[in-house]
Amino acid sequence: MSNKWTRNTAAVAALLSAIFLSGNALASEQPAEKERIEARNETFAADHVDQFKTWEATKESKDIEDALEGDPNMVILWAGYGFAKDYNKARGHYYALTDVRETLRTGGPQDEKSGPMPMACWSCKSPDVARVIDERGEDGYFEGKWARLGSEISNTIGCADCHNTNSEDFKQGKPALALSRPYAARAMEAIGKKFEDGSRLDQQAQVCGQCHVEYYFQKQSHNSVKFPWDMGTGVDEMEVYFDNLGFSDWTHGLSKAPMIKAQHPEYETWRDGIHGKNNVTCIDCHMPKVQNEDGVVFTDHKVGNPFDRFEDTCANCHTQDKETLQGIVSTRKAQVLEMKLRTEKQIVAAHFEAKAAWDAGATEEEMKPILTDIRHAQWRWDYAIASHGVHMHAPEVALRVLGTALDKAADARAKVVRLLATKGITEPVEIPDISTKLKAQQALGMDMDAMNQEKEDFLNTVVPKWEQEAKVREASYDQ
Ligand code: HEC
Ligand code: HEC
Ligand code: HEC
Ligand code: HEC
Repeated sequence: MSNKWTRNTAAVAALLSAIFLSGNALASEQPAEKERIEARNETFAADHVDQFKTWEATKESKDIEDALEGDPNMVILWAGYGFAKDYNKARGHYYALTDVRETLRTGGPQDEKSGPMPMACWSCKSPDVARVIDERGEDGYFEGKWARLGSEISNTIGCADCHNTNSEDFKQGKPALALSRPYAARAMEAIGKKFEDGSRLDQQAQVCGQCHVEYYFQKQSHNSVKFPWDMGTGVDEMEVYFDNLGFSDWTHGLSKAPMIKAQHPEYETWRDGIHGKNNVTCIDCHMPKVQNEDGVVFTDHKVGNPFDRFEDTCANCHTQDKETLQGIVSTRKAQVLEMKLRTEKQIVAAHFEAKAAWDAGATEEEMKPILTDIRHAQWRWDYAIASHGVHMHAPEVALRVLGTALDKAADARAKVVRLLATKGITEPVEIPDISTKLKAQQALGMDMDAMNQEKEDFLNTVVPKWEQEAKVREASYDQ
């Protein structure tokens, strides 16, 4: 009996292995199937406990700080553009996906063809972006409106954004850092910093530099992301680059100036600051090496404020105590803030004065030099202030750039006041009450109730559908 069983089993095994082998032979004639990029962060929890736990702890930075409430001038500066609707300060990486869905800037699309934003708006929010680009190519990802692949982008910033998670090295617990965005890889190469040729430190900074950078949407091919670095990464070079291209993100709602929106050029300003010049990277301050309870050294993945763990960051290199260094940084923050507000006051006035000139019958030709000054002034202001943490990373860069912004705004105003005089307007142009976010939005005639309602509908109907579809898709991976 047992003999027979053994014989039968052997026969079955032989048969199975024959099928298996022939199957294999067949498969080897087809192109090998690519391993899917794993965007689900939880998948890595078991093998990389410390990294996962600290990554997950970015959810502790949960407070939402309304930047427009704090400074309503910005509503006017961004008139006619999404940022005038809603703009919050950055919080933990854990919330990136939630926040891009919830911001009024992405609107309330009810189908894949509606909504104000392109697909490109997902680009710095999720490792699913790396997965989709890998599966469909860049055109296959960038094509169409933001809502088109809402159900595909379902995990927040995580492991596969910064690591080659499919590599053997990573599985064994080594960093295996990688640029997961091909457009970032091309940009690094354009400035002579090809990722593969870089030192470990270069690579560390570059993984952050995939997202914490200035970028724009190229209009020619499906609004794809490009970093405007072909002439350099400084404010002046990028300005020339955009001017040569005749590029603008939007036309200003009051002045009609062709505007450039700076995004968040942290990588660029860090490079120009004292730490960047000494190759002290983002990781030294934002992701220090620490020990777990068993004394094993690992990289703390709770990207946040380095002052919260001073001993593991600044104190590694500096002998001053926390109060001293924090004092220096907050003094610089106050200086940058003061210059920011002074500059805003001038640019806001210039926008209203330009509008008054249009209303008084100014011609395009008369307006052109004024609008160019406004464009440059605001680009410079934005480059400095949208570079979060710039008061720490490169305060001297911020102050210089804001100085030039103030100068350009003064040029614009001198010109527009002269032009107004030729139209018989010699009284100062009146600026409406813009003392709160809501008042500034009302002054621009924005219907906030309608926008909020549209967003609520979207969050209640469309997003749950996306989540359900994503669940089904992800469940199919495990079968
Ligand atoms: C924002 C970028 C970023 C994200 C997101 C990220 N890592 Fe890392 N990771 C790094 C950097 C930077 C290092 C350190 C590289 C070095 O030491 O040169 C690192 C190191 C590691 C290492 C090597 C061991 C160590 O601790 O130094 C592992 C393993 C790792 N990460 C796992 C993960 C896992 C798992 C996730 C997702 C839960 C994740 N990482 C998310 C940037 C990231
Ligand atoms: C895939 C894109 C992406 C990558 C890679 C990335 N970030 Fe971010 N980061 C973001 C986004 C988006 C936010 C804002 C999230 C929000 O507010 O919802 C953010 C927020 C932050 C914040 C604010 C956190 C807080 O709690 O206030 C810091 C600091 C930061 N990132 C630093 C880094 C550093 C350092 C790296 C590299 C190790 C890095 N980021 C890599 C996209 C990225
Ligand atoms: C020498 C240390 C150091 C280096 C290097 C550094 N940072 Fe920072 N960064 C800080 C500190 C400290 C703050 C918070 C300043 C404060 O408390 O006001 C900060 C703030 C930030 C913020 C703003 C966070 C917020 O909530 O507003 C971002 C984003 C950021 N850093 C990203 C980066 C990136 C990306 C790099 C590399 C390209 C980098 N940092 C390099 C120390 C550093
Ligand atoms: C990996 C080492 C390293 C770390 C970590 C580091 N620094 Fe530095 N820091 C440097 C170096 C190098 C310089 C340049 C020194 C020089 O040129 O004399 C510098 C310069 C400075 C200066 C003086 C230059 C200036 O801007 O006036 C300040 C202030 C400073 N660091 C603050 C900080 C703070 C705050 C932190 C933590 C958030 C920090 N550093 C983390 C290495 C580091």
